[in-house]
Amino acid sequence: MKTIKDLDIKNKTILVRVDYNVPIKNGKVANDLRIRASLPTLEYLRQHGAEKIILISHLGRPEGKKDPSLSLKPVATALSKLIPNVNFIDDISKPAVQTATNSLKNGAILLLENLRFDPGEEANSSDFIHKIITATNADIYVQDGFAVIHRAHASTDAIKKYLPIYAGLLLEKEIQNLSTTIKAPTKPLLLIIGGAKVEDKQPLIEKFLPLADHIVVGGKISADGYTSQNPKIYVAEDFDEDSSGQKLDVGPLSTTKIAGYITDANTIIWNGLLGKAEDPAYATASTIVAEMLGEKSNATTIICGGDTTGFVENLITTHPNLHYSLVSTGGGAALEFLLGKSLPGLEAIVK
Ligand code: 3PG
Repeated sequence: MKTIKDLDIKNKTILVRVDYNVPIKNGKVANDLRIRASLPTLEYLRQHGAEKIILISHLGRPEGKKDPSLSLKPVATALSKLIPNVNFIDDISKPAVQTATNSLKNGAILLLENLRFDPGEEANSSDFIHKIITATNADIYVQDGFAVIHRAHASTDAIKKYLPIYAGLLLEKEIQNLSTTIKAPTKPLLLIIGGAKVEDKQPLIEKFLPLADHIVVGGKISADGYTSQNPKIYVAEDFDEDSSGQKLDVGPLSTTKIAGYITDANTIIWNGLLGKAEDPAYATASTIVAEMLGEKSNATTIICGGDTTGFVENLITTHPNLHYSLVSTGGGAALEFLLGKSLPGLEAIVK
C-alpha cells in the first residue's frame, strides 16, 4: 500500500477520510474507539509539518438529508478533548468549506459536517467529491476510514479520479494485522464465532475451515441449534437460561472447552458475542473469553465486529491490563476483508 510514510507532507493541505460513525447518546459520543484510533495519523501529519488537516466522515444513514441528530458536532467535541486545535463546520457547501479552510494554519484540524447529508456521497458522485476537493484546495488525500472501505461511495471510490490516495496509519495497521492472520498465521489458529445471524457468520466459518485449526461457535446461533459434523468445529453444548427457558449465554461446560482451545491457540480471531452480553447476568462466557484473550500476550488476538469490539472496549476501561493485537474499528469492512472480497476504498490505494 501507498501510505503517508511515502509522502512529503510539509506545508501541504491534507484531506483525510476518517470513519467517525460512532454511537451518539444524549448528544454525546458513547464509544470513542474510532476517534482514538484516528489519532496516530493526525499526530503524524502534524509532526511532519502539514499546514491544514481537513477531516471528512459520515455518521449514521441520513439518506442524503440534513438530520441534526446525526451531526458530527459531538464528535468534534470528543476529538478536541484528545488533540488540540480542532475546528468544526456544520456545513458542507462549497463557500462555507472554502472560508473555513482558508483560515486554517499551523496544522489546524477542521472536521466537516456529515458527508451523507448530501446524497452525492452514497451515490458515489464525482461532482460531490470534486466540490469538496476544490473547496479545501487539498494537495493529498489520505484514506484512514478503514470501517468504510467496503462501500463504493464518493469519499472511498470516486475520489480516486482526482487525487493521489495514501493510506493512513489506522488503515495500514488494520490491513496488516488482518492480512497476516489470513496469509501467514502463527498456528494453531482459532476462530471464535458468536452473535445472532447465522447467514452473516456461515460464510466466515466456511472461509476459515481450510485455514483454522479449530472453530468455536457460541452465541445465539448456537442456542438456536447450529450444528456441524466437521471435527474442526465445536458448537456450544450447554447454556445459561432465563426463567422462561431462553438460552441466553454459553454455559460453564462449553466455556471450559472454549477456554482450552484459547489456551492452545497462537492466533485467535473473535467475532460475535457468546451470549446476550448487554445484560451482565449473561455476559459470563464473553467476559471469560475477552479476559483470556487480553491476557495472552504471546499470541495474536484480533477482535472484530461492532458488538464484540464495543464489549471489549468497555471491559478495557475497567481492566486496563488487557491487551489485544487488534481491536478492529471495522465491522462489515473487517468481515468483507477476511472473506477476501474486493474493497473499493482499498483498490484505490494498493501500489
Ligand atoms: C460501519 O459502521 O460499519 C461503517 O461506518 C459503515 O457504515 P454503513 O454500514 O452505514 O455504510
